[in-house]
Amino acid sequence: MPFPPDFVWGCATAAYQIEGGAFEDGKGLSVWDVFSHTPDKINRGDTGDVACDHYHRWREDVGLMKEIGLKGYRFSLSWSRILPEGIGKTNKAGLDFYDKLVDELLAANVQPWITLFHWDYPHALYLKGGWLNPESSNWFADYARVVVEKLSDRVTHWMTFNEPQCFVGLGYVSGGHAPGLKLPNPDALRAAHNVLLSHGKAVQVIRAEAKKLASVGWAPVVGPTEPASETPEDIEAARRATFACAATFNAATWWSDPAILGRYPEDGLKAFGADMPDFPTSDMDTIRQPMDFYGVNCYTSGLCRMGAVGKPETVERHPGYPRTRFSWPVCDNALYWGARFLHERYGLPLAVTENGMSGLDWVSLDGKVHDPLRIDFLTRYLRGVRRAVDEGIPVKGYFLWSFIDNMEWARGYDERFGIVHCDFVTLKRTLKESARWYAKVIESNGANI
Ligand code: GCO
Repeated sequence: MPFPPDFVWGCATAAYQIEGGAFEDGKGLSVWDVFSHTPDKINRGDTGDVACDHYHRWREDVGLMKEIGLKGYRFSLSWSRILPEGIGKTNKAGLDFYDKLVDELLAANVQPWITLFHWDYPHALYLKGGWLNPESSNWFADYARVVVEKLSDRVTHWMTFNEPQCFVGLGYVSGGHAPGLKLPNPDALRAAHNVLLSHGKAVQVIRAEAKKLASVGWAPVVGPTEPASETPEDIEAARRATFACAATFNAATWWSDPAILGRYPEDGLKAFGADMPDFPTSDMDTIRQPMDFYGVNCYTSGLCRMGAVGKPETVERHPGYPRTRFSWPVCDNALYWGARFLHERYGLPLAVTENGMSGLDWVSLDGKVHDPLRIDFLTRYLRGVRRAVDEGIPVKGYFLWSFIDNMEWARGYDERFGIVHCDFVTLKRTLKESARWYAKVIESNGANI
């Protein structure tokens, strides 16, 4: 059975991971430009200086999207390409780049879905305190305003943040990602709160100033927990585990409860205890904004059952369990349970804003890239989406991560997530077998899943 007629079949990317052109045409530095040039931060010292060179090859890339038949393309904007200092003077060349990209996408019948922020924070603002600065949410709202002014006559789908869990948790707490900070919880909690305020203010700006009716969401990462069996007890255990919040920034609830329900989760508040700074209660009115969709970035899941004492009990994956190149377990039902639990709790329509796998892909002697495992992986996960849709859960679209192999953050170029292969020496693009398969999925609107 096909998917709903208006289901958006897409792919996703992020600016720092594909664009390159890191020091061109007036672009300012981002924290990732600086971090990747700091010794020992990134696998082998890889950088995003050139990446896939999408900044110069965007026409060719949109041509490939058209060939695959994508209906949607989720990409992020480089804040410091548009505002080199993060605030103040705009960079015309930077804005023009996205302006032309949007036109090219629309001409190819590919709907642009824009993420305002996918981790490449302007270095100039970082030097002013970054997300710790009380002004940071106003900076973000001003940036949103510049973008909306330029692109909202054509762009109708917007996401504020990509995975706040990661750029706060990895960037500000564990230090493995840019800008590499290891802050104590009271500071990290303040930064996280400012990110939430930024989200709220940006949603307000988009709603107030977009020239076309805007559909607004965001894209947190969600690692759902699946039930070991479909008994009501195990399902309840999985639901609780999915939404549990300890004193870390990983939990979906730490971000989504404030943004959608208007309060921090009780268990998270308890776990952070006295580290939680005071905030004016009016902040929650800013943070909680109506959203049109909840974007789900999901790759894998946990597994649990209800234990004898009425508490969720983790079930370990058995030795030799199927895993991707990144060692992430392959979990066929992750998207089904993720969509079901998220829809129950937040009541919003959903879009899968990222899902896919990194594999060992190279150009074979026959000139082709054979990636049958990716096709199998995607089929399994999409069957989960299909089940969700069949049960009436409103999933509006699916954005495969990723359109093209790219710079996988601290892992550099080793993890290949694309359905288009990129040779990082010659920058030649080759459609993988999975791209040809995805084209058929799109053509049949998922009937072949
Ligand atoms: C992330 C991002 C992507 C990654 C992808 C694979 O969450 O890390 O949104 O930038 O490349 O998730 O790890």
